[in-house]
Amino acid sequence: MIDLKKIEELLEECLPKEDEGYGLLSSAMRYSILGGGKRLRAIMLIESFRLFSDDKELEEYTAYPFACALECIHGYSLVHDDLPAMDNDEYRRGALTTHKRYGHAMGILTGDALLNYSAEIITSAGENLEKNKPDYYMDNMRNFMRAASILYKNAGAFGMIGGQVLDVEGFKDNARPDENMLATMCELKTSRLFQSALCCGAILAGADETAVSLLDDIGRLMGLAFQIRDDILDVTASFAETGKDTGSDEKNNKSTFVSIFGLDAAREKIKELYDEMMMKLLKLPGDKSAFETLFGRLFSI
Ligand code: IPE
Ligand code: IPE
Ligand code: MG
Ligand code: MG
Ligand code: MG
Repeated sequence: MIDLKKIEELLEECLPKEDEGYGLLSSAMRYSILGGGKRLRAIMLIESFRLFSDDKELEEYTAYPFACALECIHGYSLVHDDLPAMDNDEYRRGALTTHKRYGHAMGILTGDALLNYSAEIITSAGENLEKNKPDYYMDNMRNFMRAASILYKNAGAFGMIGGQVLDVEGFKDNARPDENMLATMCELKTSRLFQSALCCGAILAGADETAVSLLDDIGRLMGLAFQIRDDILDVTASFAETGKDTGSDEKNNKSTFVSIFGLDAAREKIKELYDEMMMKLLKLPGDKSAFETLFGRLFSI
């Protein structure tokens, strides 16, 4: 397993310092990112890189910055997801949500800043690579650009943001969504960032097309299972366990696998997805034990 402390340190180093810039923006950016979180997407990105490469320098110059950028994108998506106009939640990661702590306008601006900052991290990493490792730069720029393109496509209007649109607007007229509609929403809003984690890590390490498309599929299944798990926890878990407002989905009248099909069917669906993702995992090269442990831990509910 990779060193979580290292991810925390890198995030802390790469974010703007507390008193830098304008007003409370840097403080709010740090608050939103550094106050906990499981760092699943960062961990998965690095572990995916390691399936295909043991080049530590390449990992430092490419995989780690991508992991930090992905956590900034994920963090921004949570800050905006919690806003009054969206899920209107008060707690996240065991503390007040960003807009509750810093005000609504700052919640919007902090999300904006974090999304932009993710791109600043990636472009600076490209510049660092060119400056410090010109030979690596020549060899790896194509993969670097491809990973960046996937990262932002998956986060965008046809990815995560599109899924959030379906979540808030999609099933408005009380039309009961079927399983496919629900799965599409979850795959967009949640799977896409996990797909980025797995695909970007692998691409940066030089993985071939077959492996990347397998990982893309594993990320899709894993993200869907993860969102269903989150929807179950929203109903069954306590604040102490999740650090988030409980019953948020019911409060917002959300269509989820749990609200539409019930807890048992939702748990059953996770089992199915788990079996499928583990089968696909077996087809990948290298030591997959980190993923086996992680997926086993996440989906053994
Ligand atoms: C929360 O994601 C949002 C969902 C996709 C359900 P995580 O549960 O990974 O959030 P953190 O980063 O650990 O807080
Ligand atoms: C996932 O859905 C949110 C994002 C894709 C940002 P939720 O709204 O269920 O996430 P939580 O429960 O607030 O973390
Ligand atoms: Mg939401
Ligand atoms: Mg929410
Ligand atoms: Mg939720």
